[in-house]
Amino acid sequence: MISPSILSADFTNIKKDFDAMNSAKSHFVHVDIMDGNYVPNISFGPSIVSQLKKLTDIPFDVHLMIENPENYIEDFVKAGADIITIHPDSTKHLNRTINLIKSYGVDVGLAINPAESLDVLDYTIEDLNLILIMSVNPGFGGQSFIKSSLRKIEETKKIINEKNPRCKIEVDGGIKLSNAKEVLDAGADILVAGSAIFGQDSPEDEINKFKELMNI
Ligand code: DX5
Ligand code: ZN
Repeated sequence: MISPSILSADFTNIKKDFDAMNSAKSHFVHVDIMDGNYVPNISFGPSIVSQLKKLTDIPFDVHLMIENPENYIEDFVKAGADIITIHPDSTKHLNRTINLIKSYGVDVGLAINPAESLDVLDYTIEDLNLILIMSVNPGFGGQSFIKSSLRKIEETKKIINEKNPRCKIEVDGGIKLSNAKEVLDAGADILVAGSAIFGQDSPEDEINKFKELMNI
């Protein structure tokens, strides 16, 4: 499945990019929320998300790169988030925040940064719908894929098979048509792509090319 990251979309004509996702029948819209604190960049907040929600019926895959995300879960649920992914080191009581997200009936994801180990899954995996393997350091679009992510995806797949086979693996950062195949072969279910889709002349064609590569 494909989850285009609108961080790289054209915000002077955002409807055009949503029309492209609608016509290509994208599986998700990946929405990167940055607070200038957890990551060295600022994007946008829940009021923008609720406006964008009016442009599509595609599920919103909301990636929170913010400190203390527990304070904003309700806002993002009300804004229309269908999946909410948090970073373990952004919240003091991870189990409590995971349960808070679940209490709203939305899916919950946990993001793992490039230098972080998978140990955090030991006591969280049963509760997760999604594991987001970061294949770049979070904060910016257009960075290069970090190779060691492939091994991490394979290891995550093993843990999932053993402990929670319904949990999905999403991979975020530096995904292009040229490396998508090896990321899928390693075990990814959902690919996030920002610049590889919205940096091109026809985002619709690029989404379709990713879908063809996945045979869907
Ligand atoms: C990075 C974000 C990504 C970013 C990906 O912190 O989480 O979702 O938009 O952009 P590309 O696909 O250009 O690497
Ligand atoms: Zn992201």
